[in-house]
Amino acid sequence: MKNFAIRRFNSNDSLEEVTHMLHRAFAPMAVLGANCLCVDQSPSTTRARMARGDCLVAVADRRIVGTLTLESCDPSSAVAHYRKPGVASLHQFAVDPVYQGAGVGRSMLKVATMWARMRQFGELALDTPVLALDVRSYYARQGFRRVGGMRVAGRCYDSVVMSKSISLEPRTHAGVVGRAAELATLARDAQDPAHRGLH
Ligand SMILES: CC(C)(COP(=O)(O)OP(=O)(O)OC[C@H]1O[C@@H](n2cnc3c(N)ncnc32)[C@H](O)[C@@H]1OP(=O)(O)O)[C@@H](O)C(=O)NCCC(=O)NCCS
Repeated sequence: MKNFAIRRFNSNDSLEEVTHMLHRAFAPMAVLGANCLCVDQSPSTTRARMARGDCLVAVADRRIVGTLTLESCDPSSAVAHYRKPGVASLHQFAVDPVYQGAGVGRSMLKVATMWARMRQFGELALDTPVLALDVRSYYARQGFRRVGGMRVAGRCYDSVVMSKSISLEPRTHAGVVGRAAELATLARDAQDPAHRGLH
């Protein structure tokens, strides 16, 4: 796999590029009959969903090859698990099909876990179509367990809600230094798209 960097989406990035990548990645969901938003959402919908949280992108060959958006617990969410204090959630997660299977998604989930840990969330949750068996098994291998089910308004398919526990570091000196180093890494990535790492 070529090198890639993970950083925050910024104002120099193209919403259209991210949106088209989401469409390509989610095409198999449409084949399964799951009309996920990411199958055909507009760039303005991508932007609105990013704005609900913190959007990360993976960059390789000067292209955006992956994305996910992290949200804090949301007391107004229709999903009961997402309303719980201590639960963060991730959304519009995808890797460009050309780059799939090379560890980009796994690295993005590691950064997402760091993001949640830094904010003292004890769990990271997500939802995915019941029918997407390969994706559910992927998440299971990444430590997510089924905690419930739901049907999102406007969607024609049932989803499973999956969640993984996050070990919180005690507030020791080492923990504070570790979190500062993680923050510095994300900040450096945000400023320097050429930074490589996170394999
Ligand atoms: C789910 C998704 C984000 C994972 O990203 P990824 O970069 O492909 O994932 P990784 O490379 O980290 O891991 C892929 C796993 O599949 C295996 N794999 C091997 N070849 C593969 C291939 N050609 N394609 C996909 N996975 C492959 C990897 O070995 C790895 O297995 P492991 O978890 O046992 O180590 C990505 O496949 C995707 O965008 N799918 C379509 C959109 C989607 O379903 N999003 C989630 C909806 S909730």
